[in-house]
Amino acid sequence: MAGTNTAPAAEQRDTWTHNTGFILAAIGSAVGLGNIWRFPGVAYESGGGAFLIPYLLALLTAGIPILFLDYAIGHRYRAAAPLAYRRMAKPAETLGWFQIGLSFVIAVYYAAVVAWSLSYFVYAFDLRWGEDTLGFFTGEYLQVGDPEISTTIVSSVAIPLVLVWAAILVVLALGVSRGVQRVNVIFIPLLVVAFLGLVIRALTLPGAADGLDALFTPNWSALLDLNVWISAYAQIFFSLSIAFGIMVTYASFQRRKANMTSSGLVVAFANSSFEILAGIGVFATLGFFAHQQQVAVADLEGLTGPILSFVTFPAVISEMPGGNIFGVVFFAALVLAGFTSLISILLGVAASMQEKFGLGRRTAALAVAVVSASISIALFSTTSGLLALDTVDQFANNVGIVLSAIVMTVVVVWVFRRGEVLRQHLNAVSTFKVGRVWIFLLGLLVPAFLVVMLVQKLITLVTEGYEGLPGWYVGLFGWGMLALVILAAVVLTALPWKGRDDPDFRAWPDLEEEKR
Ligand code: ALA
Repeated sequence: MAGTNTAPAAEQRDTWTHNTGFILAAIGSAVGLGNIWRFPGVAYESGGGAFLIPYLLALLTAGIPILFLDYAIGHRYRAAAPLAYRRMAKPAETLGWFQIGLSFVIAVYYAAVVAWSLSYFVYAFDLRWGEDTLGFFTGEYLQVGDPEISTTIVSSVAIPLVLVWAAILVVLALGVSRGVQRVNVIFIPLLVVAFLGLVIRALTLPGAADGLDALFTPNWSALLDLNVWISAYAQIFFSLSIAFGIMVTYASFQRRKANMTSSGLVVAFANSSFEILAGIGVFATLGFFAHQQQVAVADLEGLTGPILSFVTFPAVISEMPGGNIFGVVFFAALVLAGFTSLISILLGVAASMQEKFGLGRRTAALAVAVVSASISIALFSTTSGLLALDTVDQFANNVGIVLSAIVMTVVVVWVFRRGEVLRQHLNAVSTFKVGRVWIFLLGLLVPAFLVVMLVQKLITLVTEGYEGLPGWYVGLFGWGMLALVILAAVVLTALPWKGRDDPDFRAWPDLEEEKR
């Protein structure tokens, strides 16, 4: 059980200055492109109303338990993922680097989508996309070419991308309390107000009810399709920002005495509420579009992925009375949501570098921002950017994060047997107590289910390839990217610690269980 000792007083760690700051930052991390850009399309494609069943089950059986696990590791071992895992059990450091590697990969393409949103925010003022929104997005704007390694930089993407990276650099350099917390405390309430405005406007449009019907009418047979379940779990992981090191890092900046599980519940339910709200807003808007075209919502095309936000939505906005205001607010919301998530993805990367190599905060921020920005610009602002982005997104999320969640749960519960310590840690600091069922979920249900899902996904990718793209292309941007992340994790673990691996680190509270 928890010792009665008080928390060590002197700690040189920048922390959230209040619990609300932490909660808003964690919501800022969770609510992102995944909520607005990904959820509505995934839900619609995967059984509509029936999708809410696997979605809610994924939230309760894996999402919240893994969120608590991330929190417990970060909060107890007080470091970004590699050092936190190392303090838990030395060999687990590699898992921390694997998660940080995934974060890095996700950040470089995520920034590109935030940059597109920034461009579209500007374009919305005069509806610059014109009549042919698909032609504008893939042609004039992205200048999409063949699946090849293109070196032709597209300036309309590169310029906003540089701006996004510059803003990220400033926030990371300012640190947790003066940078990340401040941005979230301002941006998240703004985002909520903007989004509520959009949803209310969408619901008053003619045809809105048909859109909601299309989204929520359950297709029960979808529940028999394993891919629907995979989509639900992958959506929850991405959306809650769990199992790839982000929440470990955020929790590590929480003061020692902090109510972790209650905050986690607030974050998880706020995120899912926002996600469902986004589904309602997006589909009400699509209902209006179908009504204008006099077709059924099901006959509309482009209801998923980037096409939904950057092709279909602009087309709808052009048809709406006062559409440019709606457009400006919609793309501003995408920028706010995406930016606050991007900060969290990169904070983990920067903090890990800072800790391992003993760098100052600003140096780490600069190094991470410059390297990621260069890769991001080289890969995603070229004429092959869209295809590369889609492939990397598919492999990083549906394979990388799922694999990370499996390894994480098995390593913690079975290999190093830290489930009970972490449970006691959470219970010692939080008011919402976690029962042993948590360890059961993490140790058995989650990994068993995720292994089945992952194997199914791997079989599909190996036998069918991805989206008809050439094998070498998928080999490079899909499998190759994953192999590189694993290799980087091994190499980074092998490098000597120059930074904060202080032998005197003492986890608090003292727990007898940890000494066993
Ligand atoms: N959680 C973030 C999102 O949903 C990554 O976009």
